[in-house]
Amino acid sequence: MNKTNILGFTLIAISLIAVLSSCHDKRSRGLEYAPNMYYPIAYNPDQKNPIFSNGISAQVPPANTTPVGFTRFDEYPNTIDGYLAASENVHNPLPVTSQNLIEGRQLYLAFCGPCHGEKGKGNGHIVELGKYPAPPSYATGNSSRGGKMKDLTDGKIYHTIQYGLNLMGSYASQLSPDERWKVIMYVHELQKGE
Ligand code: HEC
Repeated sequence: MNKTNILGFTLIAISLIAVLSSCHDKRSRGLEYAPNMYYPIAYNPDQKNPIFSNGISAQVPPANTTPVGFTRFDEYPNTIDGYLAASENVHNPLPVTSQNLIEGRQLYLAFCGPCHGEKGKGNGHIVELGKYPAPPSYATGNSSRGGKMKDLTDGKIYHTIQYGLNLMGSYASQLSPDERWKVIMYVHELQKGE
């Protein structure tokens, strides 16, 4: 046999082994190259787990526990009572600093400005396009839940960001509690009007 024949024969033999080894069992995935790239050492969430007594990998957190870095708000439900209780008890923990206000303004412009408008007058660009009814102005409007927009407290605005209100959706999944407080700090500036 010359060199080319040996090479050809080896290639055919390898492919034959690969094909045959993948056929002997219908459930087998055959010969796998570097299997530890497919199968991580850690348990997958849907995998049986001998470490826990119920044998499940994806454990539910124990009752009444709060994940690290998570702020509970379930004592203030999405009701008028929850809104008024938040108004009474929920206050901005962050100090009013120019840095916080700058960040609050940036977040406000990205998340709230499209509807509420750059100056909070209820004339954001989707309102100007005629696609969306104008939200009330922070400085001169009235809240649909009673009272003036300029008197909205920390807790009332936080409650609104958490749950939304009528046409306004919730921003709870977009803004962390810290970010919400910065936005609220900036909304208080807009409530003063110009
Ligand atoms: C998609 C448009 C839209 C966006 C984006 C939006 N809002 Fe609103 N918002 C509204 C509308 C409409 C209302 C009036 C709802 C009503 O009273 O029925 C409103 C009302 C409010 C109120 C008054 C709540 C009250 O108690 O009367 C606050 C405070 C508020 N928004 C804050 C925010 C903040 C903060 C953001 C950004 C995180 C934001 N909104 C983003 C549309 C929007």
